[in-house]
Amino acid sequence: MKKTVIVSSPGKLIIGGEHAVVYGRRALVTSIGMRLYMQLSTVDSADKRTLDVFFHDTNTRHTVDPSGPADAHAIEIQGVLRVYDHYKSSLSEKDSLAMEVRSEIPIGAGLGSSAAFSVCLVGCFHLLCHEKLPAEEINQLAYQVECLFHGTPSGIDNTISTFGQSLVYSRTLKRHLSFRLSNLAIIDTGIPKSTKRMVGLVRDYVDAHPEEGEAILNEIEGCVDRMIDHPEEVDELFQRNQDLLKRLGVSIPEIDRIVEILLQRNISTKITGAGGGGCLIALTSTFTKEKLFELLNGNPIKSIEFVECGVEGLREETAFSEQST
Ligand code: PMV
Repeated sequence: MKKTVIVSSPGKLIIGGEHAVVYGRRALVTSIGMRLYMQLSTVDSADKRTLDVFFHDTNTRHTVDPSGPADAHAIEIQGVLRVYDHYKSSLSEKDSLAMEVRSEIPIGAGLGSSAAFSVCLVGCFHLLCHEKLPAEEINQLAYQVECLFHGTPSGIDNTISTFGQSLVYSRTLKRHLSFRLSNLAIIDTGIPKSTKRMVGLVRDYVDAHPEEGEAILNEIEGCVDRMIDHPEEVDELFQRNQDLLKRLGVSIPEIDRIVEILLQRNISTKITGAGGGGCLIALTSTFTKEKLFELLNGNPIKSIEFVECGVEGLREETAFSEQST
């Protein structure tokens, strides 16, 4: 008998505290109204079990023997196989598996696409095998998948994608907040960035300048605490957090220039995520997307989007995605 489950989970924006969170400091993170959708079905197999994964966005299909060696495959398939291994004893031996993935979250822009993939992956298998979505358990296994993809991330991305809303997050704390920004623009520079490289740069800086490094990390955490207690100061705190990120070495001239142009129009802007490229967030209630494009003409801008913040985390869906209904 064929069985199908569908889940979705959101991308994220780090409002403050990226990088410092790697060193145990508190960060402020919110989920956004861009989601990844995943469908997992059992398929009768006459012969040997196969695992078929289709990525709609890149139109790529991987058909693999799940009992074969995982490291021969692309990293995302290794992630699928890692989760399959965890659940395989609960699956019927006669069944093959077919997975489909579709995402509204741009890949590699610092908006949490890989974490949404990891969370949905665990969510789908759990729902198929146990017919429920226990958030804490799913989040823990999703973190293992994130470690396979990124080394030792702080866990902020998978946690917000699982639980949704907004969170104050550290390695030892996860507290929901009603924090919401209604005037937040995401500016994607389109400049490729590597989280691993940026985390490494910060590590080099902190190792070479331990006193200054610790002071900057503490100051970043101070910005985060202040944003939570005094959201009316968020404009000024964005600027302060951006300056501190620059001192840690994760800004680049292209980003400095965009931040400067927008500041001349009283728009506070900061890196969100690892930096070195990727996305910025800007606070503006008066400028439209078109106006922002006009202001930033000549700078590397791939897209500008105003997004909803503080949305629902991992959830079961009745349709694979809005487009398919
Ligand atoms: O991969 P990104 O761009 O979402 O950045 C993740 C945030 C960092 O603090 C830089 C790394 C981490 O593991 O928290």
